[in-house]
Amino acid sequence: MNKTIAASPQWISVLILLCSWLLGQIFATETVYWLGLDFSPEMPIWWQVSLAIAMTWCLSLPSWWLIINAAFPAAVFYTVELNWPPIVFMGALLVLVLSYGAIFLTRVPYYPSHPKVHGLVEKLVPEGPGQQFLDLGSGMGGMCLHLATQRPDCKVFGIEMAPLPWLVSWLRARFRHISCVFVRGDYQNYSLQNYSVIFAYLSPAAMSALWEKACLEMVPGTLLISYEFGIPGQLIMPTYSTDETGAAALYVWRMGSNSILMPEQLSD
Ligand SMILES: C[S@@+](CC[C@H](N)C(=O)[O-])C[C@H]1O[C@@H](n2cnc3c(N)ncnc32)[C@H](O)[C@@H]1O
Repeated sequence: MNKTIAASPQWISVLILLCSWLLGQIFATETVYWLGLDFSPEMPIWWQVSLAIAMTWCLSLPSWWLIINAAFPAAVFYTVELNWPPIVFMGALLVLVLSYGAIFLTRVPYYPSHPKVHGLVEKLVPEGPGQQFLDLGSGMGGMCLHLATQRPDCKVFGIEMAPLPWLVSWLRARFRHISCVFVRGDYQNYSLQNYSVIFAYLSPAAMSALWEKACLEMVPGTLLISYEFGIPGQLIMPTYSTDETGAAALYVWRMGSNSILMPEQLSD
């Protein structure tokens, strides 16, 4: 795949949706003219869906973009047909922007980690006072709240860019009187040097930059844990397999040594 397309499929997808919408209108009118068919309001949308699929396929975008680019125009069309009051759409747009608006920059959407993973991560935090844990992209705070409840001796921090998930995590901690610090911001501008364990559940697009930052800033001997995603270019076995985590693999690195840790090495 072309490097530009690989680096920014979201922008290519926006272009595909715009072009296919425009061409869909033209093709629908031409179909009516040349084939003498009656115009149906669904005709432009089915042209758009077909064109979006063809463009996505021709540009060799990953297969999930085929589904996104095909489903999005059809979903918009049929939802508008429901004739709900505009306030419903405005509300939905606001919730989506406040939760997922940064995806165009980060390419990391919000989805919570599996609760079984919270228990595994808890076991990886070393015993003894002075431990500081950070969840990079803490979402609605599930990981941090679990750890702060189970390990009150450990200082737990989460940093989250999206305003709505951050607000939910902050409210959850406040109402449940759990001592967690939830910072709203971009972890790329946040120092990683004060933490004994850093947890990340991001996306393949974020992992190379995270690894570089972690190697520069994390203190040797501290732990970096990634749920589901390894580092591109590193051919490694995960520390915990999908069976052990209940969903996806868990990778644990001790900083300073470049190798992945296996469960038996974690007590060293
Ligand atoms: C897959 S969710 C993980 C949520 C949570 N850590 C968990 O385990 O349930 C990833 C989160 O990272 C956030 N995120 C992505 N890039 C970020 C960045 N550069 N700075 C802060 N948060 C970021 C997203 O908004 C999203 O909420």
